[in-house]
Amino acid sequence: MAGISNKIDRDSFSGKFAVIAATAGSAVGLGNIWRFPYVAGENGGGAFLFVYLIIILAIGIPVMMSEFVIGRAAQKNPYGAFKTLAPKKPWFLIGLMGVVAAFMILAFYTAVSGWTLEYIYQSASGNLIGKNHEQLTNMFDTFLTGSVRPVLWFMIFMSFTGLIVMSGIRDGIEKYTRFLMPMLFVILAVLCIRSVTLPGASKGIYFLFHPDFSKINSKVILEALGQAFFSMSIGMGTLITYGSYFPKNDNMASSAGFIALTDTLVAIIAGLAIFPAVFAFGGSPGSGEGLVFITLPGIFQQMPGGVIFSLLFFVLLAVAALTSTISVLEVIVAYFTEELGMTRKRATGTATILVSVLGVVTVLSWSSLGFLKLFNKNIFELLEFSTANVMLPIGGFFIVIFIGWFFGKKRTTAELSNEGELKVRYMPLYMFIVRFVAPVAIAMVFLYGLGFFNPSEKQAAKTDPTEVVDSVQENSLQAVLPEIQDDSLK
Ligand code: PHE
Repeated sequence: MAGISNKIDRDSFSGKFAVIAATAGSAVGLGNIWRFPYVAGENGGGAFLFVYLIIILAIGIPVMMSEFVIGRAAQKNPYGAFKTLAPKKPWFLIGLMGVVAAFMILAFYTAVSGWTLEYIYQSASGNLIGKNHEQLTNMFDTFLTGSVRPVLWFMIFMSFTGLIVMSGIRDGIEKYTRFLMPMLFVILAVLCIRSVTLPGASKGIYFLFHPDFSKINSKVILEALGQAFFSMSIGMGTLITYGSYFPKNDNMASSAGFIALTDTLVAIIAGLAIFPAVFAFGGSPGSGEGLVFITLPGIFQQMPGGVIFSLLFFVLLAVAALTSTISVLEVIVAYFTEELGMTRKRATGTATILVSVLGVVTVLSWSSLGFLKLFNKNIFELLEFSTANVMLPIGGFFIVIFIGWFFGKKRTTAELSNEGELKVRYMPLYMFIVRFVAPVAIAMVFLYGLGFFNPSEKQAAKTDPTEVVDSVQENSLQAVLPEIQDDSLK
């Protein structure tokens, strides 16, 4: 409520629950349910999880707090925020890059979100029933390389996103995330219980939770850092934008902690919903995107009540994706309204149309536009690579540098303590992390992502986020985990 009184003309979240639901909604997405199990699967399962948890605590939360500080202090979109906090300095370029990244992320992320709609439809119409692995692979391939359906689903998903964002913060984003997020938890919990109670599920549980410390190497550490980065929505201003809608009395450190916890729990529960089922039915935990779109439908139909679970799962995936796409679109809309003076309606309409143009081109990069390639990557792959591996790390790097070395301890303390109202005993540790630990760690991820620094050549290609895409294209869904299965499962 304090948020209303100190922001007369600016929309905001109504309180703590809304802040948590919307921001956790942004963080929780395809990255948790589809990417986390896959990357964890390729990096030792439990060993990866162990490192991931340390990184979330030591780096992820401080970086997230930095974005909140910038957003709430400035009350602006990422571009305007840097302009306000550092006038006449080039920091606004970081905000601008965030807005550009938002366009690019939406184009490919919404494409994948569209796939979830196709699979909701296929589950509901019973088309997944009775298909073997090969038939399911063909089905996915035929769908992906078609020109009409993927475009149609993309447009539908983009329209949902636009409609929610058009309604604003309190009447749009807040209203929907308030019930979508709890719904997501319920569906995930049901799936998790179904999965862990299957005969033979213990192998999957063992795989996810048994930390084989001998598997921890620099590659695993860097992969965990990269996954944390993407999963927490850090580095492109989404959290600056959401932070700008936080009430002035919100304890942002505790919000960051809570959101990080939620994001991590969803990833773990998603792993618990997926791995035991995969192991129980003799699938491969390392089959990347096939795990969700090919292997899981195969598993669901072998389960009692599989059609229902299949439907539930893809609804869940779509919901998780939707609460992420609205947060990305909001970055552009906030920029358009605040910097270009558009109304929210016009800004959302314009952004949705612009993203759709890029999105359709992206979707068609699997079919008719497949010949457009650069560095052997199609448009979809280029967008994914340049955002996840280049723009997010650069953005995140400069965000912590900005807080640590420019914005400074005094102003940051004032913001995090709500002008002295909250105790902030963590400040020395926080400042040390944003000045030294986080910049160095992020720089390492960045160099690793670009291939300059490659501690484990053997598996590097597999864990590049674009690999997921490569394997969709090449339909190479072979198991990449035989050794891990052998080692850890005897
Ligand atoms: N964090 C989201 C996910 O895990 C993806 C995302 C990245 C959202 C960057 C916003 C910004 O799916």
